[in-house]
Amino acid sequence: MEEWERWERRVQTAAHPVAYRLVRAVAARGPVVRVPRVGVVVSDARLAREVLTDAEAYTKTGPGAAAGLWSPVLGSRVLITLEGAEHAALRRRLGGLFTPGHVGAVCERVLSGPLGGMKRRLAAGDEVDLVRVVRDGAAEVIRELVGLPGGGTDFTEAAAVVSSLRLWRTTLTGRQVERARAVLDRLSEAAVAAYRAGDESTVPGRLRALGLDEAEARGAVGLFLLTGTETLVSFVPRLVALAHDTGRGPGGITDAVVEEALRVTSPTPVMLRSAARAGRIGGVRVEAGERVVIATLLCTGAYGPFAPDRDPAETAGLRRLWFGAGPHFCLGMPLAMAEIRAVVGALRGFPDLAISGRRPARGVLIPAYARLPVRARAAGRAAGGRPDNRS
Ligand code: HEM
Repeated sequence: MEEWERWERRVQTAAHPVAYRLVRAVAARGPVVRVPRVGVVVSDARLAREVLTDAEAYTKTGPGAAAGLWSPVLGSRVLITLEGAEHAALRRRLGGLFTPGHVGAVCERVLSGPLGGMKRRLAAGDEVDLVRVVRDGAAEVIRELVGLPGGGTDFTEAAAVVSSLRLWRTTLTGRQVERARAVLDRLSEAAVAAYRAGDESTVPGRLRALGLDEAEARGAVGLFLLTGTETLVSFVPRLVALAHDTGRGPGGITDAVVEEALRVTSPTPVMLRSAARAGRIGGVRVEAGERVVIATLLCTGAYGPFAPDRDPAETAGLRRLWFGAGPHFCLGMPLAMAEIRAVVGALRGFPDLAISGRRPARGVLIPAYARLPVRARAAGRAAGGRPDNRS
């Protein structure tokens, strides 16, 4: 096993020591396998797309899917708990927040300060924890995007809410719901106030103007916080580690490297659906009400190891399955890509970036590094520091 793969396995199994092994063992038995108490596990990209694009037959709102998990916290009127015409209408109204032009401008405005600070510290030979940089930056971007005032709001608490969930749980415990609600209430207080004031210069005010009711606006704020931070905290450090472990360094992170890294890491490792009626997936009968688990990582992993130099046509059929497919395809993709490019762009000036003492996060929902300390070797020497590449 190559260095990058060893680290990826460590990150994945630290997050889910049992689930990853189980899912791999299941996938070895076939592309669609029923696992008692888990559901019907799909590990083939074509069949996964069939499920995800047939939102009438496989919904996010039935038993075992996302709605049961999130409705108690976010309310029942958020993108991930709606289907059909209602979902499409809400998504259209929120779409304007995520156009490449708008997210590009937000990233530029919000990230230039923190990323400038990171560059200065690296140039001075200091160690920088990339996980921290990405978490703080992603949280700031969401804060700006949803129009929350700066300072005081504790996003790490919101992140802890996401991490406290387990992959196979279908509902939240009473305590988890209470804690999540309290955190999100505090976070969205200012957003609700802006909504009520109807000030169109703020995003919540604009959401009102776009036709969202108060519950929808509050739900949107909570959903973006939950989806827009930990995914990037997972991906960006893993991308930089992958580039390091394959001898590229940040200067070698091209668009093709980013795409391949998204494929082999698949930060959202599973997507959950509920069968609305009896049917068949790849010849396997599925009963109404059964849970369908799309094992994204296995679907994308089947296309071979990390190989950014190969012909992109070989993986074109995946059509970015790591961002989902069908009506729930990741709304935040343009924002995710803008943030990835911003961090990679800032690191590009440090081609000899060394990683020392990295640590995978244990027992979290979305596999990630807990710490990824990096240092620019040449800068370290210039500043009189000792080069360090113990990984
Ligand atoms: C590398 C980063 C990211 C990855 C890999 C990712 C992946 C995904 C995936 C796989 C889905 C579909 C889930 C399903 O169908 O069950 C999704 C949905 C979603 N994502 Fe992302 N995401 C990322 C970043 C973001 C960011 C930065 C945001 C910003 C707020 C975001 C917002 C959303 C939203 C709102 C949905 C729900 C869309 C809907 O249900 O209509 N994501 N994402």
